[in-house]
Amino acid sequence: MNIVLFGPPGAGKGTQAKELSKQYDIPHISTGDILRANVRDGTELGMKAKEYMDKGELVPDEVLIGLIKNRINESDCEVGYLLDGYPRTIPQADALASILGEINKPLDAVLNIDVSDDELVARLGGRRTCSCGESYHMKFNPPEKEDVCNACGSELYQRDDDKENVIRQRLTTYNEKTKPLINYYENLGILVNIDGTGTVDGVFADICKVMDQYK
Ligand code: AP5
Ligand code: MG
Ligand code: ZN
Repeated sequence: MNIVLFGPPGAGKGTQAKELSKQYDIPHISTGDILRANVRDGTELGMKAKEYMDKGELVPDEVLIGLIKNRINESDCEVGYLLDGYPRTIPQADALASILGEINKPLDAVLNIDVSDDELVARLGGRRTCSCGESYHMKFNPPEKEDVCNACGSELYQRDDDKENVIRQRLTTYNEKTKPLINYYENLGILVNIDGTGTVDGVFADICKVMDQYK
């Protein structure tokens, strides 16, 4: 099952992908998580990416295309994968199509999680993140113990790009560079719209109904 979880910042891609990855036993590939791990480790890639991430801009395509090509060719992706945060531009989508064409594993579906801008701002402003990739919300999805990850026990933090001015820029970047991919995948006949405004469990159930078709 080869799926893209698509949607604006704060739509719930990461929240849903964590559970879907367990449910369907396929790897969750979040380019944002990979980049943040590189920032934490102080790698050359991380240092370069941070400049863009802190401003709410996209990291250059050539960096992301190389990264995703290596990741998709790892052996755990043979059973399929769930992409989260990639592709984000038309050149990235074209590159993905050519990478998948080489290994003859086309995408099954692009799930477009739709949430209004006001709700996105409220979600991102209250988000707390764990270095293991889990994310919580102070009001909408709180951890069992304040500021501690349910999954791994680490202390939660606020992402640098979850400050209000950066949130606004990320939404602008999404509208300009990433949103055109909705048409791109609609034209390919593989776009499925998901209403992302329900509860976490409700959205999960809706996504499972779609994904069950590709099992
Ligand atoms: P990335 O990490 O991908 O960030 P993003 O796309 O901005 O998306 P988010 O992670 O903010 O949102 P999400 O949809 O995962 O929401 P979540 O589940 O956490 O990218 C970060 C940066 O890296 C980019 O800005 C860019 O610089 C760079 N980058 C990454 N990929 C790139 C690429 N391909 N090309 C170029 N640059 C790239 O949920 C959000 C909040 O809402 C949480 O608090 C959660 O608890 C809550 N929530 C979730 N679902 C619900 C619900 N149903 N009801 C109520 N609250 C909910
Ligand atoms: Mg995310
Ligand atoms: Zn954790």
